[in-house]
Amino acid sequence: MKIAFFDAKPYDIPGFEKCGKEQGIKFKFFESPLNEDTASLAQGADGVCVFVNDTVNAAVIDRLYEMGVRIVALRCAGYNNVDLRHAFGKVHVVHVPVYSAYAVTEHAMAMLLTSIRRIHKAYIRTRDFNFSLNGLTGFDLHGKTIGIIGAGKIGRVMMDICKGFGMHVIAYDKYPSGDGIEFVELDEIFRRSDIISLHCPLTQETHHLIDEKSIAKMKKGVVIINTSRGALIDAEALLSGIKARQVGAACLDVYEEESDVFFNDFSGHILDDDTLARLISMPNVIVTSHQAFLTNEALENIAEITAQNLQEFFNTGMCKNELCYHCGKDEKCRKNRNHKCF
Ligand code: NAI
Repeated sequence: MKIAFFDAKPYDIPGFEKCGKEQGIKFKFFESPLNEDTASLAQGADGVCVFVNDTVNAAVIDRLYEMGVRIVALRCAGYNNVDLRHAFGKVHVVHVPVYSAYAVTEHAMAMLLTSIRRIHKAYIRTRDFNFSLNGLTGFDLHGKTIGIIGAGKIGRVMMDICKGFGMHVIAYDKYPSGDGIEFVELDEIFRRSDIISLHCPLTQETHHLIDEKSIAKMKKGVVIINTSRGALIDAEALLSGIKARQVGAACLDVYEEESDVFFNDFSGHILDDDTLARLISMPNVIVTSHQAFLTNEALENIAEITAQNLQEFFNTGMCKNELCYHCGKDEKCRKNRNHKCF
């Protein structure tokens, strides 16, 4: 089984090489991300393995299909970068639905604490032997209200962590379920929350969920955390909200236009993206480059589950982690019956 592995980073390779040996899969690692220009690198491969910023659009899918590639194995949970409708009937798509909800939520909480207790500023000051506390006043999380948008696997772990801090937790989900969660309407999240944390997928419906209008409904000084997908937030509107002092702080692990920038070293270069540069220059904005998943535990799980997905698919023609555009949405979803989308 030969798999072309795109957008390979040094931290990916050891885990995938180990799992590949154990499961009889030969991964060929390419530093380039998958897109129209690089798709031909998959010539001779049975499948491709991709991450969040690889492009799996109609043109790429057609090229992969022509070359005989049968499967796109996402080594992540989100799949907004894949044209599932176009892939249907041509190339099977599998993903890693869960690898560590703790990795993402702990990062979200780390960003929140860093931001509100000004740790990012204090770290720089003390390294420069500046021990002044002026301007470092934060606020207690205890007693504050956090609004969680998307009460899925990650959102629920975030709720537990926040409850441990003595916070009041409210949530919005398009498909609310489960006991012990105070579900409210989206507008109520905006109106009541001191902190808002995004944990829903990026879809047409959630695109720019945080925009000028929703920011205007929020409490003055609200802290916004996004560890989900960049395009949930209209970055220009966020910047305006910050400049107007309506948004008190933003913790961003994802950014709408991240695919051209994140995961790469641009130090010593001039950043072309003015919005990102402006956001990073704000004292109350923390940006990490899609790092929330990056723990040893998550990397091990990602490699293991991806290798299992490939093994299962090539051995049986089916995979429990297969996805298609019908999945969970309509009566044509066949996955519950036999785990095979087509
Ligand atoms: P999940 O599928 O368990 O939960 C998503 C929740 O969002 C579900 O409860 C669903 O009902 C809800 N939802 C769907 N449409 C919605 C809408 N229009 N409005 C509000 N809620 C809606 O997914 P999980 O594992 O909790 O992951 C959440 C997101 O986190 C993923 O979609 C992915 O984009 C992101 N993620 C980011 C990582 C990072 O490194 N920064 C790593 C892993 C995931």
